[in-house]
Amino acid sequence: MRDAAPQTVYLEDYTPFGFIVEAVDLTFRLHPTATRVLSRIRFLPNPEASDRTFFLHGEDLRLIRAAIDGREITPELSEAGLRADVPDAPFTFEAEVEISPATNTALEGLYMSSGMYCTQCEAEGFRKITYYPDRPDVMAPFEVRIEGDQPVMLSNGNPGARGADFAEWTDPWPKPAYLFALVAGDLVAHRDSFTTASGRKVDLAIWVRPGDEGKCAFGMEALKKSMRWDEEVYGREYDLDVFNIVAVDDFNMGAMENKGLNIFNSSCVLASPETSTDGNFERIEAIIAHEYFHNWTGNRITCRDWFQLCLKEGLTVHRDSEFTSDMRSAPVKRISDVIDLRARQFPEDQGPLSHPVRPESFQEINNFYTATVYEKGAEVIGMLKRLVDDDAYHRALDLYFERHDGDAATIEDWLKVFEDTTGRDLSQFKRWYSQSGTPRLHVREEYEGDTFTLHFRQETPPTPGQPDKGPQVLPIAVGLLNPNGDEVTPTQILEMTQAEQSFTFEGLRVRPIPSILRGFSAPVMLDHAEGKDRRAFLLAHDSDAFNRWEAGRELARESLVQTVLTGAASDAAYLDGLKAVIRDESLDPAYRALMLGQPTQSELAGLLYERGETPDPEAIHDAAEGLRDAKAAAFAGLLPGLYEDNQVPGPYSPDAQSAGRRALANAALSLLSRRDHGAQAQAQYDRAGNMTEQLSALSALIDAGKGDLALGRFYDQWQGDRLVIDKWFALQVMLAAPEETAAVAERLTQHPDFDMTNPNRFRAVFGALAGNHAGFHYRDGAAYRLLAEWLMKLDPLNPQTTARMCTAFQTWKRYDADRQDMIRAQLERIAALDGLSGDTSEMIGRILA
Ligand code: PHE
Ligand code: ZN
Repeated sequence: MRDAAPQTVYLEDYTPFGFIVEAVDLTFRLHPTATRVLSRIRFLPNPEASDRTFFLHGEDLRLIRAAIDGREITPELSEAGLRADVPDAPFTFEAEVEISPATNTALEGLYMSSGMYCTQCEAEGFRKITYYPDRPDVMAPFEVRIEGDQPVMLSNGNPGARGADFAEWTDPWPKPAYLFALVAGDLVAHRDSFTTASGRKVDLAIWVRPGDEGKCAFGMEALKKSMRWDEEVYGREYDLDVFNIVAVDDFNMGAMENKGLNIFNSSCVLASPETSTDGNFERIEAIIAHEYFHNWTGNRITCRDWFQLCLKEGLTVHRDSEFTSDMRSAPVKRISDVIDLRARQFPEDQGPLSHPVRPESFQEINNFYTATVYEKGAEVIGMLKRLVDDDAYHRALDLYFERHDGDAATIEDWLKVFEDTTGRDLSQFKRWYSQSGTPRLHVREEYEGDTFTLHFRQETPPTPGQPDKGPQVLPIAVGLLNPNGDEVTPTQILEMTQAEQSFTFEGLRVRPIPSILRGFSAPVMLDHAEGKDRRAFLLAHDSDAFNRWEAGRELARESLVQTVLTGAASDAAYLDGLKAVIRDESLDPAYRALMLGQPTQSELAGLLYERGETPDPEAIHDAAEGLRDAKAAAFAGLLPGLYEDNQVPGPYSPDAQSAGRRALANAALSLLSRRDHGAQAQAQYDRAGNMTEQLSALSALIDAGKGDLALGRFYDQWQGDRLVIDKWFALQVMLAAPEETAAVAERLTQHPDFDMTNPNRFRAVFGALAGNHAGFHYRDGAAYRLLAEWLMKLDPLNPQTTARMCTAFQTWKRYDADRQDMIRAQLERIAALDGLSGDTSEMIGRILA
């Protein structure tokens, strides 16, 4: 179970594998604790490789027998794999191994979840199934035979022969082992079909446990929309006769793009109005799209090695964001993405875990499925698109698919198609892939005669292993307004390449007001010393929806920071400006709901740290609460109307319009309940007909200190539904008062429904614990201890999820000496754990460094 001593792998050490795999034939004889895997693999010497060492990865396998060209061999075995002498000519390698899915709690390789067999092979899980060159640049067609008594037995590709106790599958598309999948169990299908642009009919199915079949319709619609969208926008058609999705309860991540057989965390596919919130629906639609889009960006064109992970992930996140913008509201999606980037990627890039979008070394690749690789990786592609324009972007993508279909490609290949399409030199732009850290962009304005000048300066602070940085290529979207609020210069992209650079605008008879970094055109921290009046002006007038929201956000940040530092009351100018926006009925309700939100406490802590202050989590908490109270008071006359007018009558529909109105009504409710002691929230709870209304009412009740009764009723009502009970666990920890948070979490771990082996349940409690900023950092250190204790319990069972949750400690250097000492003590305690996994040990080592 435990990994061998961790080893560091380097990008620059890449060499091709010594052999080409021509074909793979696998037979699975399923058994919970003794599954036999028989493999027949056809190898050819690789003329492009110099090293002909025949080494196959393999971990936790019991080798029964091995043969080459039919003759038994006794290979040399190690913890990492198998070595053998092989002919200098084509040969067939055969092996039979035994594995134990029922005891596989790491959820990597073949494992069991709620009685069903399933696999997870990305990144390096296939080596826990059989001996194989488990690296993405080794691609081969697979034939799979599954033997067992399970009613449903699925693998990649198209179905072949099927009998009472076996099923065969053929995947004609060469693929790396990380895209292999197998599922077997008592499953039911929600079926549909899709006819591709060229007229081929594809059978679609979402497979779930009996009882969940009523929660598949939305996912199926999302799948069909994604298939159509990829044809229309990228010209990409689906390429097999079937597309299967399976929902599993125990899964380390969100979902997995296995060829023709996507496997999903049930939380990312099952949806019903009664059990899922609007947010869940939107997320499910996006993840279904994401996994489907991987069929071209990831599967047909895969990665040469794991350093190139962003090649498929950054691009596929970019594509799923475009999809969501097209299906829903583009500005709302952009704002949500930036909120998420600031909440997850910025802290990563500003702390000890900072790494480039394309890392250059790692010990455990599982630790690099990060916000930097995914979300910053997607931002980099957004910048590229802005720089070359939409049309050139799509021409470059056409060339990418044409040139690299069937390849295991690199970031160099990716950039080359843009260079060849546009004639641009992207060597400086490539820094976005190699240089870590968030650039700071400073702006100064000058107005003289009728010329307006923007002076920019950029710098990227040092990050681990990278003391000195070069200037990045920054596409800065700028528009100019006149003092009446009319746009005098529409948005243009200023292309900054130097450390310092100025751009002038001529013929302006009055001094304009610039709107800078529209649409968040580059993932930087903007430092623009605008006064409050200027921000209030942009909040009222900016024609760029993102920057208008950002102006409000800036005012909110500044108001909160002033409250924390000086005890000042909430900024009246902000509240006035916000009031005008939220009562403006010409604006989309979803957008107004976002406007009513405020920066998280964790973001404020980061901001204070950035300004050289030591953040005090309790003071930040009180300031955040104070601002909410101030809004509740300032908008008291407005909120009841806002609440009533945005009720959505009739049967529930998860569409963006309805969801936006519910978001606004519920934002109003949460403020209202600060003054009516939860009366309105109780009424909503009692009549709620969908989870969005029920959960927001419950949150408002808890917030008003009136949640106990409703929490009990909620549990009784939803006891049988794992995904809803996850919400019940999470909400209590998320909304606990700072001094009680650790105790609430600890009490919940004692609840009979708490199951540490289920990642969703573990994250419900401990993800919420880490997310409750003031509770996690409460001065007694109880939450630090509790989290460390549970990470130490989880690590022997599930290293991947443990390692990922260590990120809760990544911002520890922001805080005061007492808190740092307490956190360091916990990190050292984890590091000293006997038999600590390589995954967790790498994370703790980097956080402590
Ligand atoms: N490749 C998956 C995705 O982005 C994520 C994943 C990684 C899932 C590793 C499981 C394991 O869609
Ligand atoms: Zn992905």
